[in-house]
Amino acid sequence: MTNPMKRGGALRHIVDSKDLSVAETEALLRLADDIIARPGDYAGACAGSGGEARKKLATLFYEPSTRTRLSFEAAMLDLGGGVLGFSSADSSSAVKGESVADTVRVVSGYADVIAMRHPKEGAPVVAAKHALVPVINAGDGGHNHPTQTLTDLMTIRRELGTLEGLTVGLCGDLKFGRTVHSLVSAMVRYPGVRFVLISPRELRAPDYVLNMIRESPGCDYVECLNMDEAMARLDVLYMTRVQKERFFNEADYVRLKDSFILDTPKLRGAKPEMIVMHPLPRVNEISARVDENPHARYFQQAAYGKFVRMALILTLLNLGKGGAVL
Ligand code: CP
Repeated sequence: MTNPMKRGGALRHIVDSKDLSVAETEALLRLADDIIARPGDYAGACAGSGGEARKKLATLFYEPSTRTRLSFEAAMLDLGGGVLGFSSADSSSAVKGESVADTVRVVSGYADVIAMRHPKEGAPVVAAKHALVPVINAGDGGHNHPTQTLTDLMTIRRELGTLEGLTVGLCGDLKFGRTVHSLVSAMVRYPGVRFVLISPRELRAPDYVLNMIRESPGCDYVECLNMDEAMARLDVLYMTRVQKERFFNEADYVRLKDSFILDTPKLRGAKPEMIVMHPLPRVNEISARVDENPHARYFQQAAYGKFVRMALILTLLNLGKGGAVL
């Protein structure tokens, strides 16, 4: 089988969720399913054999993370590879003024693939231009978070059986929430997806996100200010945190942070099969009581993240079962 990630032998980087075609996304999700079903078949895929060094992942995180960084590292360790990196700009030579371009050029000599998170939108584009190994955007500012989107698509597909014809409620900070922007850009490629955009007026989705939906035949959206009026229509309710770190003004954050709080009474009107997702971390926007509710899937969603990142690493490195080429 040819590697779906190689185009004409060129190095592939994943900066935006649209960098993966629908067919490539489907192949990754199927590979992630297979890794869950047969983990032993993949345990040595990055371990190196026949005198070849084991593969290494560098995690360059200029911004805090729990799930993304640790699931990337767990993914590489479960594949038999090694990990190195930094978890804050303060512990790297960025504090001395080193550029992203120089950093990734240097790290390309130490690692086979780079996962990078950066507060500035567009930093992964710069990294991809200068790296000599594949770069994966692990979240850039308010722009994109493609591996969270793969995690989200995997969750929806496994829990609901399809990515088509769904009504997806996106609730909370739709202005700064990169996971929302990234998920919309991926899901508008599936027929019949309807978005219900639930946010305070100040945190509406940006025009470029609305335009992506308008320009996608078969998809549409409505905007609303109230979670209750949307609940009965939804197949997915995707809650998000108000992004404190992107606000210029603390008073605005404090005023808006508790705009939407999901609790169990609010779920009474939901379809029985509706799933509640959240990229996490959560603050107040989902009551802890919802965790045990049958609609809740956000911890399962976080768990899927490791498997889809294993699939992405294998595919970008052109490795399959036991080190075989895919
Ligand atoms: N969902 C997500 O990106 O979580 P972290 O910020 O903990 O990586």
